Amino acid sequence: MAPTLLLLPGDGIGPEVMAEMRKVARWFDRHGLSFEIEEDLVGGCAFDAHGQAISDATMERALRADAVLLGAVGGPKWDGVPYEVRPEAGLLRLRKDLGLFANLRPAKCFDALADFSSLKRELVEGLDILIVRELTGGVYFGEPKEIRDLPNGEKRAIDTQVYDTHEIERIAAVAFELARVRQGRVCSMEKRNVMKSGVLWHEVVTRTHRERFADVELSHMLADAGGMQLVRNPRQFDVIVTDNLFGDILSDVAAMLTGSLGMLPSASLGAPDPETGRRRALYEPVHGSAPDIAGQGRANPLAAILSFAMALRYSFDAGEAADRLERAVELVLADGLRTADLTGPGGGAAISTAEMGDAVVAALDRAG
Ligand code: NAD
Ligand code: IPM
Ligand code: MN
Repeated sequence: MAPTLLLLPGDGIGPEVMAEMRKVARWFDRHGLSFEIEEDLVGGCAFDAHGQAISDATMERALRADAVLLGAVGGPKWDGVPYEVRPEAGLLRLRKDLGLFANLRPAKCFDALADFSSLKRELVEGLDILIVRELTGGVYFGEPKEIRDLPNGEKRAIDTQVYDTHEIERIAAVAFELARVRQGRVCSMEKRNVMKSGVLWHEVVTRTHRERFADVELSHMLADAGGMQLVRNPRQFDVIVTDNLFGDILSDVAAMLTGSLGMLPSASLGAPDPETGRRRALYEPVHGSAPDIAGQGRANPLAAILSFAMALRYSFDAGEAADRLERAVELVLADGLRTADLTGPGGGAAISTAEMGDAVVAALDRAG
């Protein structure tokens, strides 16, 4: 039976980039990799339809799917909706209820884009780092999380940063395992100088390394210094492992090193099933719904398309197909084709979201 893909296009440019990803999936369908494709609502569009950012029925489909592919959620239209049902809550529920604790955010600088980076070409040429972000814990989900009324008439806002040993250990193990098939180096980032969760994070990562992954090189950095090093000398890193909030911020920083936020894919993975070894998985671009350009055909669909390549690699054991898709993206960029986010002063004319998708599909034929 063909594996099922659940597409959740979402809001803003989500449906626009998802349409291009679908073209790519169809190409693979014509070339021997079939998928059963389903589609559903998440985010603001789900709120409009059912008053919830994701419905229980959609959650059930997501739990059954072999992989979920998401566009993006959110936008100013839903600024006024209650916090519990805001669009982003749908994405967070997917991550939490599917147990997707490991978020892989690779930041690779394609040769043809080195001049679009906000850093000088010589700093980013050949850049290939992987941020491994913890995704189901930390301050995103810690309780209490509330705004309280105080007797003096003020309010107090509380978010809680919590990490248990096993949560740190399993994300560290993912980072070490991935480093083994890359350059063999992991840098762990936390704030142990001000946060108890940082103290435990440092301790558990160090122990996990000593007991199980001593063949990998481990270094530690305070997360603020890590942010500085990412823009000072990003190529010093191979794998970075960090918590949910630092990972969110550091991956947006890393995105700009590659030229555009529209280039960064991600994979969110659960623990392997003890019987089948399969992991629950969701693939999505790192960028959001980009309300400023939504509906104009200007979005870069490559982050979404490269997220599909990650799905081929991590969910469908189709590494060669993933390589081929990544090569097709490289070919298109080498041909000088660019969406508007990648045409600076002196750059050529921009092509549309759909034209970029078509170009990748055409390049797949010659990327073999
Ligand atoms: P954003 O990533 O949507 O946009 C930031 C900037 O990058 C904008 O100028 C946008 O035009 C540009 N950009 C982003 N993706 C692009 C692409 N593919 N091609 C060309 N340009 C692109 O971040 P934001 O503006 O801070 O957030 C907008 C909304 O998206 C918010 O509601 C936020 O919560 C949500 N969001 C969702 C996700 C997600 O669904 N995974 C991720 C981040 C933000
Ligand atoms: C991301 C986004 C999400 C996050 C939001 C939309 C909930 O910024 O995936 O990077 O903060 O994790
Ligand atoms: Mn983010």
